[in-house]
Amino acid sequence: MSNTNTRALLTLVALVCAGLATADTDPRVERQELMESVGDAAKPMGQMLRGDAEYDAGVLMNSLETFGAVSEEFGKLFPEGSETGAETEAAPAIWEDRAGFEQALTDWRDATDAAIAAQPQSLDEARPVVGPVFNTCKACHDDYRVENE
Ligand code: HEC
Repeated sequence: MSNTNTRALLTLVALVCAGLATADTDPRVERQELMESVGDAAKPMGQMLRGDAEYDAGVLMNSLETFGAVSEEFGKLFPEGSETGAETEAAPAIWEDRAGFEQALTDWRDATDAAIAAQPQSLDEARPVVGPVFNTCKACHDDYRVENE
C-alpha cells in the first residue's frame, strides 16, 4: 500500500473511532438509539397485527428478541447528569421514581418473555401475547417519557 493510502486509511479509522466513542459514551444518545431499534422492530409486528402484512413467526420472534435484549440494557443508561440535553425525551420521573421505572422495565421484560415462550404460530395465537407487550410500552411512555413537539 502506498503511503498516501495508508495515511488515508488511518485517518478514516481515527474518524470512525472518534464517532463511535462519542456516541457510545453518551448514554442519552445510546438509549435513544436502542429505543429507535425497538421502534423499528415494532413496526413489522404492528403491520402483522393490523393485517397489513402476512404473519411471519420468525419476524415476530426476532422483534421480541430485540425487545428482550434492550430491556436488559436500557435501565443502565440513565445516570445522574443525563436528565437533559441531546434531545432526550426521558421524563424527570425516571430519576424521581427509579423503582417505578425499574418496575416498568420488568413488566416489559416479563410480557416479552411470556410472548417468546408462547412461540405464536399464527395471528390468532400472537394477538393475546403481543397485546400485553405493547401495553407495557405505552405504560412506560405515559409515565417516563415526554414527547418533544
Ligand atoms: C421502561 C420504559 C420503556 C418501555 C417499556 C418502552 N420505552 Fe420506548 N422510550 C422510553 C424512554 C424513557 C424514551 C426516551 C429516551 C430518551 O429520549 O432519552 C423512549 C423512546 C422511545 C422511542 C423514540 C426513540 C428515539 O428516536 O429517540 C421509540 C420509537 C420508542 N420508545 C418505542 C418503544 C416501543 C415500541 C416499546 C415497546 C415495544 C417501548 N418503546 C418500550 C421508555 C420505554
